[in-house]
Amino acid sequence: MTAITDPSAPILILDTGVGGLTVLGEVRKMLPEAPVIFAADQAGLPYGTKSEAEVAARVCGLLGRMAERYRPRLICIACNTASTIALGMVRDVLEIPIVGTVPAIKPAAALTKSGTIGLLGTEATIRQTYVDNLEHEFAAGKTMLRHAAPGLVEPAERKLRGKPVDQSEIDTAVAGLLAKPGAETIDTVVLACTHFPLLADELKIALGEHINLIDGAEGIAKRIEFLTRGQEFCRSKPDFAVTTGPLEAFVPLGPALAQYGIEDIQTF
Ligand code: DGL
Repeated sequence: MTAITDPSAPILILDTGVGGLTVLGEVRKMLPEAPVIFAADQAGLPYGTKSEAEVAARVCGLLGRMAERYRPRLICIACNTASTIALGMVRDVLEIPIVGTVPAIKPAAALTKSGTIGLLGTEATIRQTYVDNLEHEFAAGKTMLRHAAPGLVEPAERKLRGKPVDQSEIDTAVAGLLAKPGAETIDTVVLACTHFPLLADELKIALGEHINLIDGAEGIAKRIEFLTRGQEFCRSKPDFAVTTGPLEAFVPLGPALAQYGIEDIQTF
């Protein structure tokens, strides 16, 4: 990777909301010195119910403006929905490294013993050709049962704001996966939305303690570490978060963000 001349140039991590924190957590473990901007497109939440054209236009436009304003050394799209739809387009228009988040089908296929994998994502993610291709490439010979669980996004947002999560909401959101023919042999579930690992405890209760939950966050952090290897990192100011939505709706996330080393919140 090319050397970065400004050691304070940040890594910009984008999601619609708190899902990006699951990726940030792994990035912190691997690159504790890296300056980070955590960007939440709260005005666009949820992406999962939008059309491909809407998500692509929004993500390309937003990242273009953010890249100009913050001059990041690398952008991580910490959102499966945005990545499976728009990763190629964003790479075409921006001249910095872009790391996407795609469903962790490869590690799930390596881990399953029964050969039956569940995949939970947003409505938009589970219908993407990108996911078909991953399935054909890495899970050929396995059975993969996909289920849209948009009902998990809002509880994850609430949980990180310190509000209680109702287990029955989680049970309802995944009931459709468990009702699919053959679901009784699922032993591994891909969490193909960055919000979902924040509900790992609740998902274990809903799906069964024996189920392996797999997400891509660690692999993404490894990729970022690889692409920035040899670069100098030096924070010139505390790491901060930006939201495209109203600031007052984001302020309750302050304590959760602080746990991930984000000390300030601003509007974009
Ligand atoms: N975190 C996003 C993802 O990984 C989904 C949330 C949304 O629908 O905006 O797909």
